[in-house]
Amino acid sequence: MRMYDIIMKKRNGGKLTSEEIEFFVGGYTNGEIPDYQVSALMMAVYFQGMDQEETLALTMAMAHSGDMLDLSPIGGVKVDKHSTGGVGDKTSLALAPMAAACGVRIAKMSGRGLGHTGGTIDKLESFAGFSTGISREHFIRQVNDIGISIMGQTADLAPADKKLYALRDVTATVDNMSLIASSIMSKKLAAGADAIVLDVKTGSGAFMKTLEDSLALAREMVRIGNGAGRRTIAVVSDMDQPLGRAVGNALEVREAIDTLQGQGPEDFVELCMTLGSRMLIAGGKAQDEGQARDMLQEVISSGAALDKLAAFVQAQGGDPAAIYDPKLLPQASHVEPILACTEGYIREIRCDEIGVCSLLLGGGRETKDSEIDLSVGLVLTAKVGDYVKCGQPLAYMHYNDPARAAAAKERFYQAYTMDSKPTQAPPLIHRILEQA
Ligand code: URA
Repeated sequence: MRMYDIIMKKRNGGKLTSEEIEFFVGGYTNGEIPDYQVSALMMAVYFQGMDQEETLALTMAMAHSGDMLDLSPIGGVKVDKHSTGGVGDKTSLALAPMAAACGVRIAKMSGRGLGHTGGTIDKLESFAGFSTGISREHFIRQVNDIGISIMGQTADLAPADKKLYALRDVTATVDNMSLIASSIMSKKLAAGADAIVLDVKTGSGAFMKTLEDSLALAREMVRIGNGAGRRTIAVVSDMDQPLGRAVGNALEVREAIDTLQGQGPEDFVELCMTLGSRMLIAGGKAQDEGQARDMLQEVISSGAALDKLAAFVQAQGGDPAAIYDPKLLPQASHVEPILACTEGYIREIRCDEIGVCSLLLGGGRETKDSEIDLSVGLVLTAKVGDYVKCGQPLAYMHYNDPARAAAAKERFYQAYTMDSKPTQAPPLIHRILEQA
């Protein structure tokens, strides 16, 4: 078999066999096939697409390119939750302890921020000393002891995806449905959970910008997961404006803590309830959505979810004091309001642009190895549909470097479109799919 023939076949719109897919995935993982040939193949896939069989074969080849994690030493149903990536998406920070406090076993692998989207691991590192670089033994023991652990993707888990993702990131081949579905699902299958709840984002801040594409992605992932024997549910949720109000690592941690204290923003709380109720049902802890929502509400009211977050942070080396005194989280040296210069209703907040503002402030990575500033970001005070007057704050910008702040502020204004007529916020939940 020759890589050249595989590239040409896909370039000409042909269908790759499982053998051809396994050949290139295996050869790329062990270094026999060079980056430039795989880049060419990724671009051919980007333009020609892959059908369901090819996407499944790619997922399986990537999942089996390294170790498949065995979670059988953990009793009960292990439930994973995954977001396709968004802006202000701090869902795992609040939802994982909420679900764990209701008895669901959370054994989760998370990633770092990517492009304009944030990552759970970076956010969790706002707790001094917190580490996701724990051993498998620690991970399993912790889930058995306190019901929750989050670790980083290890080098031996789906290594093919790790290499392919880094290559796609720099060759403009990320936003292809088959490539995203196989990338996410290969990691989820290798990470060993019994049930998977997917939060598929749609809109300007998501990789899939249209509802049609996001639904196709959700269907594909549900098909792959259920086909592999893991109960898989997808919620297609809005990313046409930032989720909640905070964008930036420590600021998002603070909003997650507020949420666990019963003071979260309405859209964020609703998303946690929607995803959380599916996690409780899949984990066998609730019979139906009504019961699940009551249970989730109860662990917030009683403080059990907040205490679960504290136990989780402490078990992974972090200082939980910041949970009860959020001023101990990383703080920026300056906080400045960004004022509206036009009066009217907010028609649109370009979510990807807000993500870029946080990145420009230092809250995201420009390159793979950039250091990030956990303290910076934005807290929005108005969202789509709100009426604002000139001089009223649209957001508060948290920053340390005035030059970066000036660049971010300029970009911030470009994200907003105002209207003299009332406009409605986009719906938060577009669709819930239990079956493809
Ligand atoms: N997240 C992933 O893990 N992979 C993708 O391809 C896109 C988002």
